[in-house]
Amino acid sequence: MTERKRKGIILAGGTGSRLFPATLSVSKQLLPVYDKPMVWYPLSTLMQAGIREILVISSPRDLPRFRDLLGDGSQWGLRLSYCVQKTPAGLAEALVLGESFLDGAPSALILGDNLFYGAGLRGILEEALEQESGATVFAARVRDPNRYGIVEFDENGRARSIVEKPEHPASSWAVTGLYFYDERAPSFAKELRPSARGELEITDLNCRYLEEGALSVIRFPRGIAWLDTGTVESLLEASEYIAAVQNREGLLVGSPDAIAYEEGWISRETLIRNAGRCGKTEYARLLRSLA
Ligand code: DAU
Repeated sequence: MTERKRKGIILAGGTGSRLFPATLSVSKQLLPVYDKPMVWYPLSTLMQAGIREILVISSPRDLPRFRDLLGDGSQWGLRLSYCVQKTPAGLAEALVLGESFLDGAPSALILGDNLFYGAGLRGILEEALEQESGATVFAARVRDPNRYGIVEFDENGRARSIVEKPEHPASSWAVTGLYFYDERAPSFAKELRPSARGELEITDLNCRYLEEGALSVIRFPRGIAWLDTGTVESLLEASEYIAAVQNREGLLVGSPDAIAYEEGWISRETLIRNAGRCGKTEYARLLRSLA
């Protein structure tokens, strides 16, 4: 049996309150990380996984701006759809809101403020794509484990538990904001009850898969960066990191234009037209040099 084509969901809502005043009137995921809007990075990650049909979810205030920025996706050979999340009722609500869009297909959910980078990333995404049933999440080492969903591993290196923002963390491996699910995720998500903080927790959804032995946790090796954008300091560091990589290697990071062209999803003419939209910037120059 061949798997139905996996579809992507980008969750880009929330209030952005940890970045006030920068986000008082604009969504966090539209702020720049170095030279591009933040949401381009998670979009690029889904594209690197070969996913071309994607739903963007955001707040009633911000969704029109995402639509304005990303359009129907045809400039990148994608099909983009949009959906409002009325209130930030939890990450797992993305699967409930996305149910009709997914229409029985497996999914990859990514948080609109999560940036991944590294030469080994594509290989790791492929490993996750090979899993036809169950769920796959990715874990990265962090210094402040009580801010995240934390995985506890048994002596064989298999996940034993995941605890959301533990007081006494069992490890320093945090679950990152990229989740691959089989077609059951929307129905599992609908069965969840709000947590003590009033949210449908993605950790509860992952635990549902874990309980039936259907959750794979892939630990990021050295060389894959998961960049934090949760505070003004970490946002600045993320910009500096992307700037350093791009300027040293002359490569674009988080560019849907570059990926679409390399994958053969858009023509040279379209790439040049997209570059034209970006004026006389260094970004546009790098796109033209690709073409
Ligand atoms: O970043 C990874 C962490 O993301 C995981 O380790 C945790 O298990 C997971 O629960 C989540 O942690 P936070 O609770 O800190 O996520 P936060 O509330 O900051 O939301 C993450 C992003 O998703 C943020 O940009 C806002 C957006 N969001 C959040 C909620 C609750 C939405 O778009 N809708 C929502 O309902």
